[in-house]
Amino acid sequence: DELLALTRDLEGLTFAVSAGGTREPIDPVRYLGNRSSGRQGVAVAAAAAERGARVLLAAANIESAVLADAGRGVEVTTVGTAAELGEAMDRLAAEADVVVMSAAVADFRVAEVSQGKLTKEDGGIPSLSLVENADILKGLVERRREGQTIVGFAAETGTGEELLERGRRKLRRKGADLLAVNEVGWTKGFEATDNHLIVLDRTDEVVADAAGSKRAVADALLDAVVSYRSGQSS
Ligand code: CTP
Ligand code: CA
Repeated sequence: DELLALTRDLEGLTFAVSAGGTREPIDPVRYLGNRSSGRQGVAVAAAAAERGARVLLAAANIESAVLADAGRGVEVTTVGTAAELGEAMDRLAAEADVVVMSAAVADFRVAEVSQGKLTKEDGGIPSLSLVENADILKGLVERRREGQTIVGFAAETGTGEELLERGRRKLRRKGADLLAVNEVGWTKGFEATDNHLIVLDRTDEVVADAAGSKRAVADALLDAVVSYRSGQSS
């Protein structure tokens, strides 16, 4: 760890990283959310900054104690909804050599947000109609800058080959350069401090398989980015 922290191999590069989980409002006091704490994305941002990169972080609903781990060097934009995250990432990615979409983006938002708090006095059980949010990662891939490397994340349930196959399909669908797949479940991946990431590239190759602290896993992901980029420029 000490040695890794001394390697400034990302000097001269700008990273745009998203982390956390979006929240889609239902009414002024309620939202649809997910269990992403932002720890893994913050660890990627912190590791990239320590390795010399300029890091722009779009932080979606990350607890301040977690966000503090990003460190002083990271420039933070805070966002709430998927729409806000999309806007922020479009702006940050326009300056970035490497884009890492580790945020958990809500797939759906509530079609009509209630201006007043929903109340039982309204009678009956309310039903929510949902509409699909734009795919931020796909949009970033469409607007990719020359030489820009785009990394997606996929939190998947399941194990082994099944998990990898789903990751491969997702990588193809999204058109990203690399996809970091992590296994999640009721007790895995979220509040845990340790993580397991498998990184796939466009040839469907496993280019990294790392387990350990979210920081160690972040460094393994950054190593995969570095070798992917050096393979492209040669
Ligand atoms: N993502 C995104 N915008 C969305 C949904 C997802 O940018 N509206 C990004 C995530 O940040 C992540 C990647 O896409 O980097 C994969 O997210 P995931 O939820 O696994 O993919 P989906 O295409 O939404 O597929 P699923 O139906 O399995 O949730
Ligand atoms: Ca999704």
